[in-house]
Amino acid sequence: MFEHDLFGKPVSTFQTSKDRKVNKQRVIVGISGASGAVYGQAALKALRMAGVETHLVVSRSGQITIAHELALKISQLTALADVVYRIDDIGAAISSGSFKTMGMIVAPCSIRTLSEIASGVTSSLLTRAADVVLKERRKLVLMVRETPLHLGHLRAMTQVTEIGAIVMPPVPAFYARPTSVEDIVNHSVGRALDLFGLESDLVPRWGETIGVGSSPSADSAD
Ligand SMILES: Cc1cc2nc3c(=O)[nH]c(=O)nc-3n(C[C@H](O)[C@H](O)[C@H](O)COP(=O)(O)O)c2cc1C
Repeated sequence: MFEHDLFGKPVSTFQTSKDRKVNKQRVIVGISGASGAVYGQAALKALRMAGVETHLVVSRSGQITIAHELALKISQLTALADVVYRIDDIGAAISSGSFKTMGMIVAPCSIRTLSEIASGVTSSLLTRAADVVLKERRKLVLMVRETPLHLGHLRAMTQVTEIGAIVMPPVPAFYARPTSVEDIVNHSVGRALDLFGLESDLVPRWGETIGVGSSPSADSAD
């Protein structure tokens, strides 16, 4: 059986009876058109490292931000996923609740995608898959990226939280003293994977590798 990549080319999937990996953990990754395609890229890498099968769907605007923001071709990004779906492939496996997954991460999540999910009026495979994750009471993590926020944005975040999603804007944690963009991105992605109960080794943990012992005094910093 084949799915199709972003250019309509068939790609083999894990769904053949012969080589299907029984009981393998699966997570759906959605990349929408907010700034921060690198979060989706990092999520795919981290999930692969964690041994999780990834099912990727990228919105049309997501393809544009990937082209603007990442120093790679879309085919190099999709190669990080196990299965790739076209955004309009509404009959895909991930559009059905009978296809078992741990849930879905939308990284990054645009306001438009957030709003569709919040309303339940879904117009693409990405938002349909998110809606399915919610109806099956699975984990949905939305790395919403926009600033500043007006009341409509905040209301959509409230609404989506009320129906079971986790709104997780990728906000840097400076207590971890990041020294690169990669550090900042990986920290947020690692914390998102924490929400699925997945270990990634991307998060310096307070009280373990950082923040151990007494608090530094203000004049001890150099
Ligand atoms: C370079 C670029 C950056 C963008 N950044 C954001 C953003 O951070 N947040 C957002 O909600 N929309 C952003 N947009 C606009 C979305 O792509 C646009 O609203 C689009 O309709 C979202 O569609 P989608 O949710 O189907 O991906 C950006 C667009 C471009 C081209």
